[in-house]
Amino acid sequence: MLDLIIRNANLPDGRTGIDIGIAQGRIAALEPALQAEAAQSIDAEGRLVTPPFIDAHLHLDSTLSLGLPRLNESGTLLEGIALWGELKPHLTVEAIYERAKKLCLWSMARGTLGIRSHVDICDDRLLAVEALAKLREELKPYIDIQLVAFPQDGYLRYPRSAQNLERALAMGVNVVGGIPHFERTMEDGAQSVKTLMRLAAERGLRVDMHCDESDDPLSRHIETLAAETIRHGMQGRVAGSHLTSMHSMDNYYVSKLIPLIAEANTAVIANPLINITLQGRHDTYPKRRGMTRVKELMAAGITVGFGHDCVMDPWYPLGSHDMLQVASMGLHVGQLTGTEEIKSCFAAVTESPAKILGLEGYGLTPGCHADLVILQAEDAFEAIRLSAERLFVIRRGKILAEAPPRHSRLHLPHGPLPIDFTRAGLATL
Ligand code: FE2
Repeated sequence: MLDLIIRNANLPDGRTGIDIGIAQGRIAALEPALQAEAAQSIDAEGRLVTPPFIDAHLHLDSTLSLGLPRLNESGTLLEGIALWGELKPHLTVEAIYERAKKLCLWSMARGTLGIRSHVDICDDRLLAVEALAKLREELKPYIDIQLVAFPQDGYLRYPRSAQNLERALAMGVNVVGGIPHFERTMEDGAQSVKTLMRLAAERGLRVDMHCDESDDPLSRHIETLAAETIRHGMQGRVAGSHLTSMHSMDNYYVSKLIPLIAEANTAVIANPLINITLQGRHDTYPKRRGMTRVKELMAAGITVGFGHDCVMDPWYPLGSHDMLQVASMGLHVGQLTGTEEIKSCFAAVTESPAKILGLEGYGLTPGCHADLVILQAEDAFEAIRLSAERLFVIRRGKILAEAPPRHSRLHLPHGPLPIDFTRAGLATL
């Protein structure tokens, strides 16, 4: 006797008509016409059932602080940084905790059940570390939160970063962060990467650095990050976030760099919503797009994940933590409209970030956690096109969130006509 059966599911790999049997919080069987009884069943009616969305890059400590203490009038990265500096002295553990918790409730309703959040350690009180470590424990039954020690004001540039990083790790932060392009010089940037990589290697920790978030084609810290990954044998455990300078680099140099990133098995995390709005601000026309070379990185077999980065904070006033919106922006900005490329954009908000975070039991094979999302869409293509409604979000075999199918109703002389914009719905018009 199973706990739950989801019948007639389409899967992201293209299989259709699949039944998924769930017992004790895990996937027990996954096959067509499953012969089994269950306490509860859901008919997916030929809709897409996917493992949950995973956000590879977010800042839970600043999220939902929009308007505090004022709005970012210019909308630029620099005013955003200044604004965060104004807000920092007024932060409290409670306020950070409450805002981050509300964001996580949105995430759960959106079927995003894994988040890697950077947490600023350049506040000597480490209030954000305290707040987010508490939240991570409290929400463990519902959502996997990974915390990155992020020296926002520079690891070498901010005088107490090294001590604060040690304290943050002792408080349970899981991943070592960095921001080499924000150090005072290129040499300091490279030195910060080397020091932080050694520190992470000694402790067996994963690494995720904000790296080369700039339009400067000579910002090349990703090269050092990849080389240090190889030196320390940390292949598969290191990620470079943003890498926007790659957009502006010389093609010849990139023809050497991408194979190095592939050799190091260093993952790449792009943040399409933020990169497209914050980069290229010094340009007149044509304006650079500012997202890293996702198409070429994916083609080289490098793991590429997408992050939301910001939701209603000093850097980005928009968003509702919808990872399908992120996939859509990444697809558009990267001109990733090929059939396989569209599937890769869906993977960039699901299985690829799960791999980057090293989430145990993620996936759709028997034995995996029964963490699933049923979407109002028949495949990944339609899910991205419609930012599809999350009809059911299932965590460890139990329904965590539910939403009715989304549709409009046209009032015509012969009666009301529902419109849901799906391909299946077209047949009824
Ligand atoms: Fe970030």
